[in-house]
This record gives sequence, C-alpha cells and structure tokens, in this order.
Amino acid sequence: MRTQVAIIGAGPAGLLLGQLLTRHGIDNVILELRSADYVLGRVRAGVVEKGTADMLDEAGVGARMHSEGLVHDGVELAFGGQRHRISFRDLIGKAVIVYGQTEITRDLMEGRAAAGATTVYEAEDVSLHDIESDRPKVRYRHKGVEQELDCDFIAGCDGYHGISRRSIPDTVLRTYERVYPFGWLGILVDRPPVSEELIYANHERGFALCSMRSPTRSRLYIQCSLEDRVEDWSDERFYEELKRRLDDEAARRLEPGQSFEKSIAPLRSFVAEPLRHGRLFLAGDAAHIVPPTGAKGLNLAASDVFYLWQALLDFYKRGSSQGIDAYSGRALARVWKAERFSWWMTSMLHRFPESSGFDRKIQQAELDYLRSSQAAQISFAENYVGLPY
Ligand code: APR
Ligand code: PHB
Repeated sequence: MRTQVAIIGAGPAGLLLGQLLTRHGIDNVILELRSADYVLGRVRAGVVEKGTADMLDEAGVGARMHSEGLVHDGVELAFGGQRHRISFRDLIGKAVIVYGQTEITRDLMEGRAAAGATTVYEAEDVSLHDIESDRPKVRYRHKGVEQELDCDFIAGCDGYHGISRRSIPDTVLRTYERVYPFGWLGILVDRPPVSEELIYANHERGFALCSMRSPTRSRLYIQCSLEDRVEDWSDERFYEELKRRLDDEAARRLEPGQSFEKSIAPLRSFVAEPLRHGRLFLAGDAAHIVPPTGAKGLNLAASDVFYLWQALLDFYKRGSSQGIDAYSGRALARVWKAERFSWWMTSMLHRFPESSGFDRKIQQAELDYLRSSQAAQISFAENYVGLPY
C-alpha cells in the first residue's frame, strides 16, 4: 500500500488531521491499534476552544457540535465558601463550547467514513522505518497478515503510550515532566448540572469540578489520593465529599444520582521536543500531556494539527518545505503556554499533600488576586478560551 501521509492513531489528533488532509486532496491512511468501539468508549474532557471549533468546521464535522454543544460565556470559581464568576464574554468578548470529546471523535469518524478515507482498526505491532529518509514506511500486522505502507510523511498521533515518540532516537529527543501527587476521581451521571457554567472549587479538603455533557448529564470530579481505588468510592461517598467542597448553594443544588462511569486519572505535565524528526511529526498526546485542570488536552491536539496541516499544505500545494521546518517550533511555542496555564491552574486549585503554611497562604493570595483584579481575570480568560494560533 502507498499513501501520502500515514497517520498513526485514530484519536482526535489523527482523525482531525486526516479529515483536513482528505478535504484538501491529500491522501492519507490511519492505522489504529484498537477497534472503533474501543476508541469511542473512552471518556475524556469536554471544553472546546474557539480555534478548535473552527478547525472542526473546516474539517466539515462541526454541525452537531453547534446544535448540541453548550456555549459557555464564563466559568465560576468556588473558594472561601463563595462563588465568583469570570465572564469571558465581558472581559474579552469570547466563549467556549462544552461538548464531549467522545462526541467529537464520533463526528470525525463519521466524516471520515463519508469521505471514503481508509482507517485500519486493530493494526498491531505498528513500527516506523526510514524516517530519516524521504521514503519512510510503516509496517504493521492486520488480521494476522504482515503489511507495509509506503508514504511521504508519518504523523505520530498515537497518544502518550504510542510508538511514534519512541521511534525518535534518545540522542535527539528531550523530555520534560512533572507528576502531581494526586488524581481526579470522575463520574458521569444523568442529573442536570449544578450550575449553568462549570464550577472549579478550591477547598482545604481538595479540588472539585462540576462540569457537564448536556442539560441532563453531569460530569463531576473530586481530587483524590493516588492510592485510592474506584471501588473505595461508592456514589454516596463521592457525593458527600463533593458537597463538602462546594459552596452552600451549589451543595444544595447538587442532585445525587447513580453514576454510570467512574474512573481515576493521575495528573501529569509532559512535553517531548522536538516534534519533528526527519519525516516523522508528533502531534497531540504523543508529544505532550497537560493536567486536565485547564481543559487543554484536546485543544492542544487541535492546535498541533493546525500547524501540521498548514505545513503539509505548504509542501503539497506550494512545493515549500518552510512549514515543515517551522512545525516543531511553532507548535511548541503554543504548547508551552498551555502547559504553563494548566500547571498554574492545577497549582492554584488543588491541595498539595506536602504544602507548607506559606504555600497555602500564597494560594489564597493568588485566588484573591484573581477575584479582585480585572487584569488577572483577563489573563485567565484569554488562556482559558485559548491563545491565538
Ligand atoms: N499503534 C496504533 N495506534 C496506537 C498505538 C500504536 N502503537 N498506540 C496508541 N494508539 C492509538 C490509541 O489507541 C488512540 O486511539 O492512538 C490513539 C491516540 O489517541 P488519544 O490518546 O486520544 O490522543 P490524541 O488524538 O492526541 O488526543 C488528545 O485526547 O487523550 C486525550 O487528553 C487528551 O484530550 C486529549 C486528546
Ligand atoms: C470535563 O467536562 O470533563 C472537564 C471540563 C473541564 C476541565 C476538565 C474536564 O477542566
């Protein structure tokens, strides 16, 4: 088999890149380790920046997001027993859309099927070859048969555990990492959201977040210990703990229900550099991880794809390698700013087990500054809705 761009991974990064390339006449094949159902079964975050929404429109798959997604003009921060609203609309004239990543993945998969582009699900033992030459290839096994895919470029969109990043020599790749000493315990439940907008809560017992998927479905999180197991947390215990971390009004409005998904996710910041080696590009979680506090994971995957798609258009439509050469630097400049914002929000809102009295006083000062300064709120708003590409 031969294609122009071989894409490894059918998460949001791989599917979005594939859709944009297909719509611009650039042939591509996606190789995905798992089945389509498995990919769709993963529960992920759900805040879509304007830039990401524009990309989904450009890819021709934005219709359902616009009809079913919830436009949010702001968020609420809860601390010291009170809630404080930060209005993106008033501060910078922008908003975000709350729409689950699972739904985005579904829309992209349907778009790809309608366009007739090839996705090989359950592609096993994918390996990358000759990435330093201009004739790279990908080998894999499908239904027990060894296959080879020749291509011009490889896009490594195979997430944190994928093989693409590991195909870059150790002498070239540099990694930067911070692991946080806690996790998020999240549930999905068919109960209306506590508030119209997301509530991010800082409490001495730990962080909490009341998010949503629709007017009838809530996504709720509490900070938990890394030693905790899902079985330790009955729904009753979860709600009791969440209530204690919210302000009185939100706690009163919280309607307990039976969860139908419950999981614990560790929090980590991670960046690998560079994002290009020879004819291999990394995009999305394959190259970087953010803690979910700033809701940046999916949006960073989309901005990488924006720069990469532009670079490939430059190459195929204008015969220029400039975009390809600039890809890593351009994407990383935006990645690091989102890493900073996600780290900052995480630091401001969580209870760190080892924190001193001084650290906690600084955290309170940070929150009070954000509550009282319009300049601080504008900075928060422009980062939360997404920095320009
Ligand atoms: N071969 C082929 N596919 C692979 C391999 C492999 N060796 N390893 C992993 N994959 C697939 C995974 O099964 C997954 O479907 O690559 C895909 C990567 O998708 P994501 O992990 O969703 O990563 P990405 O597309 O970059 O999306 C980033 O998703 O993970 C969230 O928080 C993250 O919101 C962010 C967004
Ligand atoms: C979610 O809805 O899952 C969600 C929202 C905002 C975040 C993280 C997760 O910051």
